[in-house]
Parts: sequence; C-alpha cells; structure tokens
Amino acid sequence: MSWFMATIYDRFMRDMERACGDAWRSELLSELRGDVLEIGAGTGTNLEHYRDVERLVLAEPDPHMRRRLADKVAQASARARTVELVTWSAEQIECEARSFDAVVCTLVLCSVRDVRQSLDEIRRVLRPGGKLVFLEHVAAEDPSRLAWQRRTEPLWKLVAGNCHTCRETARSIEEAGFRFEHITRESARKALPIVRPTIRGVAMAP
Ligand SMILES: C[S@@+](CC[C@H](N)C(=O)[O-])C[C@H]1O[C@@H](n2cnc3c(N)ncnc32)[C@H](O)[C@@H]1O
Repeated sequence: MSWFMATIYDRFMRDMERACGDAWRSELLSELRGDVLEIGAGTGTNLEHYRDVERLVLAEPDPHMRRRLADKVAQASARARTVELVTWSAEQIECEARSFDAVVCTLVLCSVRDVRQSLDEIRRVLRPGGKLVFLEHVAAEDPSRLAWQRRTEPLWKLVAGNCHTCRETARSIEEAGFRFEHITRESARKALPIVRPTIRGVAMAP
C-alpha cells in the first residue's frame, strides 16, 4: 500500500462504511470473545466494533497503514483486555498453532499475495472449531460486471495495493477445509462498481 493510498483510505471508504460497511462489521465482530487475531487490520476501522475480547492481536505488515492503526489504538477506548500490534503477514503468521479462537479478515483476502497459503496459515493458528470471520469483495456473478472487473483488475491492483477484484474467495475458503456457519452475498452500496459484490460471514475450522 502506498503512502498516498494509506493517507486517503478512510476518506475513500467513508460513504460505503456509512451505507453498509459499518453495520456489517458490527454484526460480524460485536459477538466475538476470547483471543482474536485480525489480519491486515489496516487503519483500524474494525476497532470500534469489538466489544469484550480477551486478547486482540492486530497484524498489519504495511508501515503506512500500521502508523494510522497505532494512532487509532491509542485513541480508542479498550475493547479488549490486551491489544497487540504486530507486523505478521497472512502468509506467515508468526505464532504457535492453535493460538486463537477467531481470525478476522475484512477486505484483506483480495490483497494477499497467496490466498491458499494465507488460509492454511489461518487454519493452523485457529483452535479446533475456531472461527474465520470474513467480509470480502469478490468476483461478480453477473457476467457483464465480471467482464468489467477482469478488464480493470490489472490497473486496480497497481493503484490499490495488490487488490484483486475477481477472486472467488468463498470457494477458496471451502477448499482450504473450512465449513461455512453462515455466508451472505450482498452488494456494497456506495462502493466502486468493481468492488461492490461482497461476501461476509463465519467459517469454522475443522
Ligand atoms: C483494503 S485494506 C483493508 C483494511 C482493513 N482490514 C479494513 O477492513 O478496512 C487491505 C489491508 O491488507 C493488508 N495486506 C495486504 N497484503 C497483506 C498480507 N499478505 N498479509 C496481511 N495483510 C496484508 C494491507 O496492508 C491493508 O492494510
């Protein structure tokens, strides 16, 4: 993520967050308890939605995003008993197996270098029956929107920190061995058309 994208990120996302993102994040995160790892925590948009987490580990490899995240952690009232900031990437989560009750990925699996390696790592660090909580934009089902996503993806990846618009993330989650507890497919209002199709929900580790 460039310094410029990190700087405009919150403003760029604002209308979508107000229209739907905020409510979706709250629905997914407010019930989480125990030890939680958030991958690609970005500027900390999710922070206000955690309620009573025991240990919250915020992983963000990008230094520009991490600086904003650190500021937000310092300002936010404690939503967890302990909060830690780390630089781990999704492909290499530097902790022991079975360390977490839940792993949170919001708008991250679109940008990771290797989706399968990331999901394998997430599975490794989840306790048996642990939850992968996700909100991701994905490839469109509508063929004409998908064609637009395919056409614009090469340029979009360059400007938006390796963000892919055509990933079949639900299929990748299942192929990595997770079982959906629930999944909702919905269009993100006030988002750019190429990132409007989204999935959100909870997938259980074996
Ligand atoms: C679009 S932002 C989403 C930020 C935040 N999760 C949110 O919901 O607003 C994508 C984030 O994923 C991070 N990211 C990109 N590649 C990553 C990787 N391989 N491992 C972990 N995080 C990554 C980026 O640095 C960026 O902060």
